[in-house]
Amino acid sequence: MRVDVAVLRRDFPIFEAQPAPFHYLDSAATAQICRPALEALCRFEGKARANVKRGVYRLAEAATRAFEEARRQVARLLGGVDPAEVVFTAGTTLALNLAAHGLSPRLGPGRRVLVSVLEHHSNLVPWQLACARTGAELVAVPATADGRLDHEALERLLDSRVAVVALTHASNVTGAVSDVARVARAVRAVGAVLVVDGAQRIPHGPVDVRRLGCDLYAFSGHKAYGATGAGVLWGRRELLEPFPPFLGGGEMITRVTLAHSSYREPPHRFEAGTPPIGPVLALGAAARWMMAQDWQALRAHEEALTRRLLAGLAAMRDVRILGPTDVGERIGVVAFTLESHHPHDICQLLDERGVCTRGGHHCAQPLMDHFGIEASVRASLAPYNDEADVDALLEGLETVRRILG
Ligand code: ALA
Repeated sequence: MRVDVAVLRRDFPIFEAQPAPFHYLDSAATAQICRPALEALCRFEGKARANVKRGVYRLAEAATRAFEEARRQVARLLGGVDPAEVVFTAGTTLALNLAAHGLSPRLGPGRRVLVSVLEHHSNLVPWQLACARTGAELVAVPATADGRLDHEALERLLDSRVAVVALTHASNVTGAVSDVARVARAVRAVGAVLVVDGAQRIPHGPVDVRRLGCDLYAFSGHKAYGATGAGVLWGRRELLEPFPPFLGGGEMITRVTLAHSSYREPPHRFEAGTPPIGPVLALGAAARWMMAQDWQALRAHEEALTRRLLAGLAAMRDVRILGPTDVGERIGVVAFTLESHHPHDICQLLDERGVCTRGGHHCAQPLMDHFGIEASVRASLAPYNDEADVDALLEGLETVRRILG
């Protein structure tokens, strides 16, 4: 079925709020919030605010129920997992730091952590820190020339020394989607744990984490049509159970004496202090919104737009696309350079035409090194984009070229 973007945009208040022209092509940095998520956030903060997991008055109990309902919605989005396996965090970064901390007891001298050259710094730096703490070795899996995970190289690196493999599901620069199910089979065969950064993949449709076969999966609410401030670490129950506490504080304990504390079961052990309640409720509402969409149609729509964007860029002189130039196994995240013009100059000139793109290293400096560049421009698509957005970018780039010479 064809996607009616005008109808879909009614679910996104930003399109009523921003003056035309408004071509939002930076959803990989943060997607626009959907109306149900914004309403959930506003309803909580304005009409139903109370702390969760604590109070015994009705308002507080209702807040706790809403919070746990959000956990159930996220569990559905991840393929119907056990809600107790869903840990709320402040975002992907915190989720991956929690993963690295929780898996640290498996690391030590002689053990290895594999990460790929494609990783966002959030799925690299926590592992560097964990390796430095434990004496484990960090080993990088190379990318292919067109910015995909090199699956063969990864499989060659897998042996009994490998304790953890931490990979992005979809690159925030090249848009390449890795075959997580294939990786998971190989990782399981050597008894290692597979951690997946799903921040870029989740906004493009629900993911069945158990079918993928990964062990831990992280993502952020704000990239998945929710509010900023909440994210998720999903983990297999048997894996999360032995994780040591990460942040200490209220509501993650069963008993505290001056000398000692004992800790609650997951997920509460990892949700110390007052959680980001409003953003979590927004995330639950966004997950529900996502589950109500026709993702087959939305994927076809995104694929058509990605094809149009890639073809338009490929037809331009001196544009270098950083990533696969076909639409197979990729999301609509497209990074490129234009001659030697600085990405920030390009983005600012595009902004004058109402086109929002991101320029920089995209928190993926090893991948920039792989391509031999410092930075690039990135356009990223979401279901609410249409042909006019893509064309505005392509026309804008022609103008940029004329202005910058
Ligand atoms: N991680 C976000 C991005 O890639 C901010 O743009």
